[in-house]
Amino acid sequence: MANTVRTAVFPVAGLGTRFLPATKAMPKEMLTVVDRPVIQYAVDEAREAGIEHFVFVTGRNKGVIEDHFDRQFELEATLEARGKLDALEELRRDLPKAGQTSFTRQQEPLGLGHAVWCARDIVGNEPFALLLPDMIFKSEPGVLKQMMDAYEQTGGNVIAVEEVPHEDVSSYGVVARGEGPDERFSITGMVEKPKPEDAPSNLIISGRYILQPEIFGLITEQAAGAGGEIQITDAMQALMDMQKFTGVKYEGRSFDCGSKIGFLSANVVFALDREDIADAFMQELKTLTGEIPISIAG
Ligand code: UTP
Repeated sequence: MANTVRTAVFPVAGLGTRFLPATKAMPKEMLTVVDRPVIQYAVDEAREAGIEHFVFVTGRNKGVIEDHFDRQFELEATLEARGKLDALEELRRDLPKAGQTSFTRQQEPLGLGHAVWCARDIVGNEPFALLLPDMIFKSEPGVLKQMMDAYEQTGGNVIAVEEVPHEDVSSYGVVARGEGPDERFSITGMVEKPKPEDAPSNLIISGRYILQPEIFGLITEQAAGAGGEIQITDAMQALMDMQKFTGVKYEGRSFDCGSKIGFLSANVVFALDREDIADAFMQELKTLTGEIPISIAG
């Protein structure tokens, strides 16, 4: 059988402390980039890559994510009655089909590795995609689709990577690069949040993974790693002793919507890519950045 992946896991149980107070009662994954919640971008990317089952690992205060991926009959009826058929069509297009979503809870935010482990019974004994939804991308095709194309050939585990300035590596998981071209090279090691002088490269893990189910058994064996959290990188390192890992240096640009700067730039870039608002928004930006003089005092 060809190498295919049907299931994607979206860990959305983190506390989002970098976005307080916005995230006190609202999940950070529901913050909007233009007019779509951040989580919707990751779900769309997964759907484009052929994913059929969307598994969300949620936590307290995250019920609204479940509602977002459900039908809203009153709203739909009102849009229909008012003839707002484009908006209605968009709502319906965004919605996964009946039976395509599963939700499970991580009762305590013990780390990303632990969140993934919470999905073990839903995923079962199959390869799965893991998407950290606060990373979103401008890329054509989507990053997960690019990884799927590599996975069809390689099987095993696949990780999307991107280059960052060497001095910035200590905020990320970093891979050691082995043989092969940018679109498909072997990964020979990885380390979470290394000091720049200890980093094996400047290729960071970008929040998209295709993993084999054996990872679940290895997560249970992990003690808390960097930052006192159960890290997925530690389990992946253990899995590397048994299975192949392939790196895909994807084509595109990432936005870390878990950070304020990344989130704000995503809003600018995605807005400028929208036919309906691009021109007016560009005009506004020019005004704000001083190309057209304005009085700040109004
Ligand atoms: P982050 O570390 O970026 O999210 O985890 P965070 O902890 O919510 O953010 P800050 O640092 O406090 O602002 C990456 C992804 O993993 C999920 C988060 O929801 C996010 O989508 N995550 C993280 C979990 O689901 N559970 C955890 O225990 C930790």
